[in-house]
Amino acid sequence: MAKDYIKEEVRKFLNNENAKIVKIKYDMNRLNSAYEWSRLRNPLRMLWTAFIVEVCRKLPPCEFKNNLYRMIGVKIGKDVTISPDVILDWLFPELITIDDGVLVGGDMIIATHEFIIDRIMLGRVRIGKQAMLASWVCVNPGVDIGERSIIGLFSYCRDDVPAYSFVAGIPAKVIKMLDKKTYLAERKQHGEVSEVIMYNSKEKNN
Ligand SMILES: CC(C)(COP(=O)(O)OP(=O)(O)OC[C@H]1O[C@@H](n2cnc3c(N)ncnc32)[C@H](O)[C@@H]1OP(=O)(O)O)[C@@H](O)C(=O)NCCC(=O)NCCS
Repeated sequence: MAKDYIKEEVRKFLNNENAKIVKIKYDMNRLNSAYEWSRLRNPLRMLWTAFIVEVCRKLPPCEFKNNLYRMIGVKIGKDVTISPDVILDWLFPELITIDDGVLVGGDMIIATHEFIIDRIMLGRVRIGKQAMLASWVCVNPGVDIGERSIIGLFSYCRDDVPAYSFVAGIPAKVIKMLDKKTYLAERKQHGEVSEVIMYNSKEKNN
């Protein structure tokens, strides 16, 4: 029997660490490509990763949770915070790299695969050091989030995000660049508080 070219393309992509994205034309064996997701990944493996991702969704941010994600192949650095109800890609979590100090808000999605009716796309996602992704963000396969960038609430990251940028919107666009010299430059000593801001609700509205 002829080799399944979809399996073959997926295997080649996974083995090539330098490849960022692969797009595979679907042969229309069925009416949509997602119907045949099991041509991409062994169903037992998929069930295992789905189970871990679902358990993690209910856990508060902690190192135990980061270790569970590491078990299914996600590369996670130190001091990473992943809020509850985050969905990391069930099919290919090992294509996600989250660098040191990243903060991931709740109810958001990081996808490394995309099914279109007649096409399949896989892509590696990298989230750079100390980037901050607010809640309800969606990151597309193959997207690189630059270090110390900020992604605003409800944004859809379809393209790479430059380092030290503040992006937001659907699709996310650069709203402003952050000052490399000042943003996160200072590292306070443990217990040292640089500024405390307090206001009552009346002042805030003025
Ligand atoms: C990222 C964030 C903290 C930025 O807040 P900020 O620095 O106070 O930024 P501002 O509110 O001053 O906004 C600056 C500009 O960006 C725009 N903007 C901010 N967030 C936006 C969003 N999510 N979508 C679209 N535009 C946005 C503002 O309208 C403003 O535009 P203007 O200058 O034309 O008025 C905030 O937008 C956010 O997403 N907060 C949620 C944090 C979160 O989810 N944390 C999760 C862990 S608890």
